[in-house]
Amino acid sequence: MKQQVIDTAKALVADDKGLLAMDESNPTCNRRFAKFGIPQTVDARRAWRELIVTTPGLSKAISGAILYDETIREQKKDGIPFVRALNDAGIIPGIKVDAGAKDLAGHPGEKITEGLDELRERLAEYFQTGARFAKWRAVIAVGDGLPSPSCIEANAHALARYAALCQEAGLVPVVEPEVLMDGGHSLARCCEITETVLRAVFEQLYAQRVRLEGLILKANMVLPGLTCPTQESVDQVADATVGCLLRAVPAAVPGIAFLSGGQTGELASARLNAMNVRFKSRLPWPVAFSFARAIQQPAMGIWQGQQANVAAAQRALLHRAICNRAARRGEYTAAMELPSAGRGEHTRALGIPSPGQTKFAVSAA
Ligand code: 13P
Repeated sequence: MKQQVIDTAKALVADDKGLLAMDESNPTCNRRFAKFGIPQTVDARRAWRELIVTTPGLSKAISGAILYDETIREQKKDGIPFVRALNDAGIIPGIKVDAGAKDLAGHPGEKITEGLDELRERLAEYFQTGARFAKWRAVIAVGDGLPSPSCIEANAHALARYAALCQEAGLVPVVEPEVLMDGGHSLARCCEITETVLRAVFEQLYAQRVRLEGLILKANMVLPGLTCPTQESVDQVADATVGCLLRAVPAAVPGIAFLSGGQTGELASARLNAMNVRFKSRLPWPVAFSFARAIQQPAMGIWQGQQANVAAAQRALLHRAICNRAARRGEYTAAMELPSAGRGEHTRALGIPSPGQTKFAVSAA
């Protein structure tokens, strides 16, 4: 494996920054648009993604952006490819390479992520296009008798084969085994399953000769199920998550970046912050973020597909990114969520011009 892969992995979690996942598949992106009455078209998806990559100052909090196949081939309205725009902004382009989670035969309620066929060729093409890291998401459902050992094993095996191919191609694999929040299970059950899944994943990574120094683990936080009557405090979630990761994730891993999984932006920031306040100086790896919804959702609600709302949406996007960078430093506070005065202060402290005071070249559908 090339040294460049190790260097990229380190860069993705350096300077208290994190990843922005903007790699929703077309059906997922369309579902998110539908909630806000945004047209579900190629043009609207392109305009949304242009809004994101042209947000001034985004690189102060974001190290890498995960693109979808459609987006990595697209350009801004002025003809500049998104990949170049990201590079020019100092953000490393990445790409989602799995083909989605499909029903696992013989295992009702469980999924296996597909996409290994022709993956070597696709990775070579993505590298040529400018991607320097990749993502593959496995989903593990929790329920009565779920997950099954065979679902865990099949997904861990696929993740490891994907990761090995990425490193061969010069791309950092972002290895994402997501234990889902859906259901009424307890935090203790999520903890037990997350630990089992992570152990299985690292065993398979070892078997497939993946270099731990050249990957990023994208993990779920350890949380009670969404409909569990007991919802633990932010500090309890931080303790359970860090305890679980310490037991299961080798110290050679350069960083762990959490998915948000449907948490609100505020809660995701508060929980990441608590982990860093309580444990940062004692952890073998940085705990960072790789959020999609927890960064994008408020901004998407403001944008609503309208050109006139672009600057306000970019401010909201940047705000969430900055809150998460603060959370990595253990400096996130509820006061950061207060209306605009506070926000402007944090933005100015990083030397970022406020969207709306700068020229933008974004247009809606
Ligand atoms: P969420 O943060 O919305 O869970 O998305 C993260 C992600 O990239 C899932 O693969």
